[in-house]
Amino acid sequence: MYNSKIVGAGHYVPEKIVTNKDLEKIMDTSDEWIRERSGIEERRFAEMGVDTTANMGTKSAKIALERAGLTADDVDFIVFATLSPDYYFPGPGVTVQHELGCKRTVGALDVRNQCSGFIYSLSVADQFIKTGMYKTILVIGSELQSSGLDLTTRGRGVSVLFGDGAGAVVLQRTEEENKGILSTHMHSEGQFAELLCVKSPGNHTKEKFYKDMHEDYKNTSPQMDGQAVFKNAVVRFSQVIMEALKANNCAPADLDMFVPHQANLRITQFVQRKLQLPDNKVYSNIQKFGNTTAATIPIILSELWEKKGIKENDLFVLAAFGSGFTWASALIRW
Ligand code: ACO
Repeated sequence: MYNSKIVGAGHYVPEKIVTNKDLEKIMDTSDEWIRERSGIEERRFAEMGVDTTANMGTKSAKIALERAGLTADDVDFIVFATLSPDYYFPGPGVTVQHELGCKRTVGALDVRNQCSGFIYSLSVADQFIKTGMYKTILVIGSELQSSGLDLTTRGRGVSVLFGDGAGAVVLQRTEEENKGILSTHMHSEGQFAELLCVKSPGNHTKEKFYKDMHEDYKNTSPQMDGQAVFKNAVVRFSQVIMEALKANNCAPADLDMFVPHQANLRITQFVQRKLQLPDNKVYSNIQKFGNTTAATIPIILSELWEKKGIKENDLFVLAAFGSGFTWASALIRW
């Protein structure tokens, strides 16, 4: 069995910055409410017709490959996580295969696990590398969510939280022992699927698959029971982190960095207190990007890469919780 290691990370966010003050102009909300409840100060919104979920993924993948000293032709497989694909089908993985200009017809897999999507994707890629099937895999998380948000007072409970952006990592085979992805852990609890979901278009009722977007606004924009999500998130985050640490005979004090999915600064702070981690071992960027769902974790990895914030042998834990409910963690030795 081989191990897999992140050898490059990149990210891309749209240029347009939307501040809380900008949202105040289009809905009944306030900068104070948003900051206090979530920590968010601003987010990026894509320019429609310019940015797409796939092309933001491609842009971040190109940076990740460059930082890894590799080209598109080195890629053996693509795993793409998103809840906001460009088409209902096919998923965006195939578009990346095309946009990158891969000479080979490498496989592209789409993962639909929302906020946990990137860690699920990393886990899938890790298994392919461990078994020796592939050597180099692109793992991408990308979201263009702004186009599907209800940006009126009616949708304010959800829409102020989300932003657009993409991040990617290159995962590669290593023969070094105790290096790279040490373990991944994934869970789901489908009884809560409707507490955070977009229902339409879908086949969950007797009604026809497609309904007019305006007539059916309640189902075509995200619906969330925020408090239920919050209560479950703080429990599951801590559990899945401890699961990863225990599986590797480690303790919270051994961690050099906790990279949480950026759902809400208050969730992160709650988990930080529980694990008794100092501020310099917890990374947050929700203040400037909001919740970019599958993209939050690879964006952080790319930012750390840029800041040279990752040292050889550092122990990182990645953890996420979100719609499904699904939650997951990965323990990484750099
Ligand atoms: N601006 C102003 N007021 C608002 C807004 C807004 N944007 N949104 C809601 N309110 C009002 C509500 O109407 C309510 O008013 P009322 O008391 O008069 O009825 C009041 O603010 C409180 O609303 P709550 O929903 O109870 O606020 P809460 O303190 O729970 O915070 C929040 C809401 C931030 C959504 C929180 O519950 C949360 O962070 N939940 C978790 C989100 C999350 O982690 N999502 C998972 C990831 S997403 C994914 O997987 C796709």
